[in-house]
Amino acid sequence: MLRLQSPLPEGYTDASPDDLAGRIAAARATLGSRLLILGHHYQRDEVMRWADARGDSFGLSRRAAATHDAEYVVFCGVHFMAESADILTGSGQTVILPDLNAGCSMADMADIDSVEEAWEALAGVTDIDSVVPITYMNSAATLKAFVGRHGGAVCTSSNARAILTWALERHGSATQVLFFPDQHLGRNTAFQLGHRAEEMAVWDPRRQLGGLEERTAKEARFLLWKGHCSVHQRFRPEHVNAFRAAHPDGRVLIHPECAHEVVELADEVGSTDAIIAAVRAAAPGTVLGVGTEIHLVQRLAAEHPDRTVVSLDPLVCPCSTMFRIDAPHLCWVLEELVAGRVVNRITVDEDVAGWARVALQRMLDIT
Ligand code: 13P
Ligand code: SF4
Repeated sequence: MLRLQSPLPEGYTDASPDDLAGRIAAARATLGSRLLILGHHYQRDEVMRWADARGDSFGLSRRAAATHDAEYVVFCGVHFMAESADILTGSGQTVILPDLNAGCSMADMADIDSVEEAWEALAGVTDIDSVVPITYMNSAATLKAFVGRHGGAVCTSSNARAILTWALERHGSATQVLFFPDQHLGRNTAFQLGHRAEEMAVWDPRRQLGGLEERTAKEARFLLWKGHCSVHQRFRPEHVNAFRAAHPDGRVLIHPECAHEVVELADEVGSTDAIIAAVRAAAPGTVLGVGTEIHLVQRLAAEHPDRTVVSLDPLVCPCSTMFRIDAPHLCWVLEELVAGRVVNRITVDEDVAGWARVALQRMLDIT
């Protein structure tokens, strides 16, 4: 999805790291309690050091929903997270994304037109009233509104199990779940809940009826949208095997956006918050191989010098869109606020926000 970020003025692009740090600190101090900076775990250190709250997608959405006092919420993360924050904060609050080009390639793999087409196609072959749509947090607000309107809910990687359990109970054994946009999170969670591969089918939005036989589309318990995260899909079983060969007593921690054959080899599977908790809980001396974005892995390694924390993929795999948020962009949005100008505001139209809020609220109520 094209979002145009205008180039920064020179005073930001050619400023030194120390200069930027001093200016961010000054702007932050001037704005005081009117400002809240939220930082996702995949952010660079030069940004994360200024976050008032750090978290995974779920934690940050909860934090946004509980934020009533700050006038400005500067979201250091990606576009869908800022949209969710706008939906969950009050009308007098302004959500800002420091770089408008910080999107998410996975979120862009499902758009409202293809989801509506899928729904229509499914309605032609199955009882659509028994289909519960679940969207991963990593999706546009229009998709969240779609699931809100159709009796579904949002989930994140830390609560997908609870949300799928809720969804499956909605219409008993007749329930089918349409899960988008991440096939891996859907599949991994379905397996965690004890379901078999035969109950799952991949829905390819580029093919007629998702590329499925009519019978499969009607009978599959889980219709998994053919989307993925390019960062997490890089991790392969060979990486885990190589780590285990080098560190027979090591522990393997994997994010559930990774493919199932990788998840199967893990000691623990969980969201970024869960991975952080697992590293903290490990005994000093433990060697931990982690399958998630590199900035988090490097931060964990630095924060736990008595443990060895390494990426399972020896080739660095950053999330290029999370990486767009840097100190110059953060400094720019803050200095503009100090000057009384709001730049890069993220707003969701109320007709979309209303139903998206329903879907997000269902998630918050279930978990
Ligand atoms: P969590 O924050 O839920 O762990 O998800 C990771 C992610 O890919 C966010 O884009
Ligand atoms: Fe999207 Fe993957 Fe980056 Fe998360 S890590 S923001 S899912 S591309």
